[in-house]
Amino acid sequence: MHANGTKSLTIAFIGGGNMAEAIIGGLCQDVQYRLVFSEPSRERRDYMQQKYLNVEGYSDSEQVLALEPQVVILAVKPQIMKVVMKELEPILQQRQQHDLPTPLLISIAAGISTLSIRRWLNVVDLPLIRLMPNTPALIGQGAVGCYAMDGVSAEQRQLTESLLGVVCKHISWVEKEPLMDAVTAVSGSGPAYYFLIMEAMQNAGVEAGLSIEDAKALTLQTCLGAARMAMESEDDLATLRQKVTSPKGTTEAALKVLEAGNIRQLMYDAVFAADQRSRELAEEFGKD
Ligand SMILES: NC(=O)c1ccc[n+]([C@@H]2O[C@H](COP(=O)([O-])OP(=O)(O)OC[C@H]3O[C@@H](n4cnc5c(N)ncnc54)[C@H](OP(=O)(O)O)[C@@H]3O)[C@@H](O)[C@H]2O)c1
Repeated sequence: MHANGTKSLTIAFIGGGNMAEAIIGGLCQDVQYRLVFSEPSRERRDYMQQKYLNVEGYSDSEQVLALEPQVVILAVKPQIMKVVMKELEPILQQRQQHDLPTPLLISIAAGISTLSIRRWLNVVDLPLIRLMPNTPALIGQGAVGCYAMDGVSAEQRQLTESLLGVVCKHISWVEKEPLMDAVTAVSGSGPAYYFLIMEAMQNAGVEAGLSIEDAKALTLQTCLGAARMAMESEDDLATLRQKVTSPKGTTEAALKVLEAGNIRQLMYDAVFAADQRSRELAEEFGKD
């Protein structure tokens, strides 16, 4: 915050849905940020403004851009990104033509390439970052992959990290945009893989005689504990597995079944299927 009481950075969100709310919820206590968002639904605007004091909602993007935000976070569904970019196009073009500062654009729309965004905006040299957060970001536990186009400064990367830090525990930068498909396949879709594994483990526990409550709680805490342990340990994942697998013990008996069922190949195929689908969706969404 400046000495005169004004906020030093205006962060604008286009779209006031779930992901915007998670980030706004994390940032709203920070006095240095003025947080504004555009959202067509009046009900949603009212909800956001009542829940997060000092957050300003507007019905259209033009009003939000008129506030000259330093950062604009594009938080609408991928299917409507093109329409929204066409709304922003004349405003950003005009600012550039008059040598007025343009904002850093951060897109969280899954599968929309930076080239598509630039093409739709028809604005050259606009700093643009693309993110792929995952659903646990909604509870402040996300993992996110980021790609920055040429022209994004080190300070803008740093600012992006501090904004993302409120919803994500891990941030990876990829150097080439096609790697965002791999990020999507590992961490973007990843929570569902673990939900499936945990569901199967819980059901097996019930079949083995546990109550559903116990089977669920034991499964979830085991998953969480294993992840925490792997994060805090200096051992790699294979070593950690070996350390808890005594010869002829119970863990070895279970792991033999998983290996015989080719769990490694299954996971490989699953990740590559998601990677491939991510490419196909990018092509579909990015069409003119
Ligand atoms: N949720 C996640 O876990 C997650 C994870 C990774 C990536 N993402 C990405 O994050 C983006 C947002 O996802 P979300 O889950 O937050 O979606 P969401 O809850 O549907 O939020 C999008 C919001 O944008 C509003 N909107 C529609 N048209 C608009 C316009 N022209 N101008 C401004 N706002 C407009 C929508 O209003 P209406 O509902 O009234 O149309 C809605 O409230 C998506 O691109 C998604 O791919 C989300």
